[in-house]
Amino acid sequence: MLTKYEEVIKEIEARTEDGRLMPGERLPSVRVLSKELQCSINSIIKAYAELEREHKVYAVPRSGYFLVGTSAKQQSRPSGLIDFLSAGPDRSKMPYRDYQHCMNQAIDLYKEKMFQYSEPLGLLSLRHQLSKQIQDLQVFADPERIAVVTGSQQALDILVSLPFPNGKEEICVEQPTHFSFIDSITSRGLPFVGIEMTNRGINLDQLEEIFRDRNIKCFYTVSRFQNPTGYCYSNEEKKRIVELAQRYDVYLIEDDYMGDLDTSRKADPMFAYDPSGRVIYTKSFSKVLLPGLRLGTAVLPETMIDDFTKAKFAADVHTPVLTQGALEIYLESGMYETHIHKLRQQYKRKGTILKQAYLDYLPKGTTFSGAESGFYSTIELPGHIKAKHLAEHLKKKRVLVQDAANMYLPPYKKENLIRLSVSQVADEHIGEGVRKIGEGIEEVLVKSVYFM
Ligand SMILES: Cc1ncc(COP(=O)(O)O)c(C=O)c1O
Repeated sequence: MLTKYEEVIKEIEARTEDGRLMPGERLPSVRVLSKELQCSINSIIKAYAELEREHKVYAVPRSGYFLVGTSAKQQSRPSGLIDFLSAGPDRSKMPYRDYQHCMNQAIDLYKEKMFQYSEPLGLLSLRHQLSKQIQDLQVFADPERIAVVTGSQQALDILVSLPFPNGKEEICVEQPTHFSFIDSITSRGLPFVGIEMTNRGINLDQLEEIFRDRNIKCFYTVSRFQNPTGYCYSNEEKKRIVELAQRYDVYLIEDDYMGDLDTSRKADPMFAYDPSGRVIYTKSFSKVLLPGLRLGTAVLPETMIDDFTKAKFAADVHTPVLTQGALEIYLESGMYETHIHKLRQQYKRKGTILKQAYLDYLPKGTTFSGAESGFYSTIELPGHIKAKHLAEHLKKKRVLVQDAANMYLPPYKKENLIRLSVSQVADEHIGEGVRKIGEGIEEVLVKSVYFM
C-alpha cells in the first residue's frame, strides 16, 4: 500500500502525464493541494521535496514549486519565421530551470566560497568531475591538466597567442571555420595558412605538405560536427592527422565543441590517438547546455600549463565560481547525462529530416555538407549566386540563413556558401524551410541570368 506522500507523488505524475500540469507550470500550493487531496500539509511538503530531489520539480523562493521543462508558450515562433541563423541550442530544450536548481544547491553546499576569488584554472573539484566526464569521450587526463574556461572560445583565444614548445609560428586552419577563431587570429595579426574543408573533408596530402614545408606551430581543427560544414572526420583520417602532427612536430588544437552529441560510439577524438599533450583538447558547454553560462574546458600539455595559467589570469582571473559550482553538481547528479541522452536523439532526428529535405528540395547544381550533424551544415550555391544576395532574398520569404563569407580568412574567401543551423527550427518546419530555400535559389538564379 502506498503511503500518503507517495499517493501525492503519483497524483502529480498523473497530472503531468495527462496534461493537467504542463512543463514550466506552477504546482498547486501546499495548502490548496492538502485540502484537495485531504491529507496533511507535511505529506505534500514531503512529496514536493522528493519530486525536487528527482529533479522533476524545482522550488522558487516565495513563489512555490514548478514543473521542470519549458512551457509551450515559451516555444512559440514569431509569425511564421523559420530561423536557420540562430546558432544556440534549441531553446525549448535548454535546462535552465534545472541549472537554477544546481546554482541554489551550489550556494547551499559551498556557501561564501561561491562568491570569493578562486583558482585561475577553475575549482579543483569541478576539474575532477570534468576529468571523469570526458572519459566518456575517450579523453583520459588528470584534473591537473584540465582548465575551466569562460567558454571554449577563451581557451582558443589564449592558445593562439601563446608560444608553443615547438618554437614555431604559423597557425594552420580549416577553411571555412568557426568565425570567432578567425577573429582571434586576424585581430592579433598572427601568421596563418588555410586548408580547404569541403563536404569530403580536407586533402591530407596537402596537409602533409603544409606541415612539412611551413613553420606550423599548431593546426586548429574541429574534429566532429565542424562549424560551418558539419563535417566529421573518420577515425582513419583522425589517426593520420595525429601521425602527421607527430612526424612534423606540429601541435593539434582539437575543438570537440559538440563531441557529446556524437551518436557513433566508435568515433574517437584525435586526443585518444595521442594523449601525451601533442593534442590540446577543447570542449564547450554552449551547444549542449546554456551558452550564456560561458563554460568550456581545455586539456593542456603539461609544458604549457604555466603559460596558460598566467594568460587566463590576465584575461579574467578565473571563470565565475557560481556557474562552475553549479556545473559540478549538474555533472555529478547525472542530470547532464540524462539531458545529453535526450539531445543526442533530438539532434539525430533533426539531421535525418534535414538531409531528406535537402535531397527533396535543393535544385540541381547545389551541393550540401554535414546535414546529418543536426546542428550546422552548409549549402554551396550554383551558378554565380552570392550567399549574401540569397540570404537577403530568403529574408523576404521569412527564412533566415547565414552567409558564410565571414568564416573564411581573407585569402580563402568564398562568397557562395550559406550555413544553416537547424537546432532552433522545430522538426515540422525544417522541410518547409528547405523547400523555401530551394525555391529561393531557383528565383535568384533566374534573376541573375536575366540581368547578365
Ligand atoms: C566550432 C566552435 N568552437 C567553439 C565555439 C565556442 O564555444 P563557446 O561558447 O564555448 O565559447 C563555437 C561556438 O559557436 C564553435 O562553433
